[in-house]
Amino acid sequence: MKNFVDWEIGLHGKVDEVNLRLLEIIKTDQKDLYEMAKYTIEAGGKRFRPLLTILAYEVSSDNPYSQILDLAAGYELIHTASLIHDDIIDDSSTRRGRPTLNNVYGLNHAIVVGDYLFAKAYEMGSRYGPVVSKIMADASSRLAEGQTLEAINLGNMDLTEETYLEIISNKTAHFFEACAMGATTAAKASPEVSRSLQEFAFNLGMAFQVTDDILDIVGDSSKLGKPVFADVKHNAITIPIIYTLKNADKSAKDEILSALKVGDDRSVDDRFKDLMVKTGAIDYSFSIAKAYSQRALKALHMSERSPDLDLLMELAMIVVERIEELS
Ligand code: IPE
Ligand code: IPE
Ligand code: MG
Ligand code: MG
Repeated sequence: MKNFVDWEIGLHGKVDEVNLRLLEIIKTDQKDLYEMAKYTIEAGGKRFRPLLTILAYEVSSDNPYSQILDLAAGYELIHTASLIHDDIIDDSSTRRGRPTLNNVYGLNHAIVVGDYLFAKAYEMGSRYGPVVSKIMADASSRLAEGQTLEAINLGNMDLTEETYLEIISNKTAHFFEACAMGATTAAKASPEVSRSLQEFAFNLGMAFQVTDDILDIVGDSSKLGKPVFADVKHNAITIPIIYTLKNADKSAKDEILSALKVGDDRSVDDRFKDLMVKTGAIDYSFSIAKAYSQRALKALHMSERSPDLDLLMELAMIVVERIEELS
């Protein structure tokens, strides 16, 4: 089975190039702001969104990927900014294996660093013209819509799978889709290639977020670089919880409800994980993630085979296989 590191080898240093570009973009004479932005960028992360942008560009253009590097970095900046703000909202302690920005520099600074990264991102988008700028801005708006829909449904035990899917499509999948759309627009790709890559990216994003929600329960926090059980502690109702509330027997339901109600460190531990495995919630959620990954793969069959397309196909598989590796 291929893992993320193996997959990255096929990219021949593209992650390093993205990282160098990010460090350039965030430069400012305000040295405290630079230090804080650098702290966040140097913490790393998988760089999925810029890599998706680069590969989608390479599949649809003969130009070198250096042409799309600013846009790729721009998407990563929006994502990173949204994580800084997400960690404030969730009062999270660690991110990307480091204490969160909020934890180290405090709330006021963390808010502003997030704003700064958003601003820098749109500056990058503007280099690709108004159409790409709008794609980027729309993706950010949808992310805010998804985060808000999630927030107003915290603790809603009646949340349906349908609304859950709407939340994650807005906060994650449409953002992935926008990475592909920005790339194919900049590449002036044919409508067929654009559609195929967009459909791929959207379904990849869905598989990615469902997997993340499973890993919140079965994952190992040191491998993930962020806390586990964060969703249940914040009463975010994700797909494994929806499944259990709908299908499990009364005692299992009561246990889940009490974990959701109390929601502190003592109440959520490996017993919660065991329960979610026992009720079949993890298997069910995995089957949903896999179905999205399959849909992503199917969407790519419309594009011509190439080494970059093969890398995208591998990515769709790795996204769900992460569960085994990170548990
Ligand atoms: C975390 O995204 C937020 C989700 C959409 C699940 P990533 O898992 O891509 O985070 P980094 O960038 O690797 O830290
Ligand atoms: C929210 O998703 C991240 C965004 C899409 C802004 P999560 O809340 O699942 O992200 P993590 O688990 O904190 O990385
Ligand atoms: Mg979060
Ligand atoms: Mg999560």
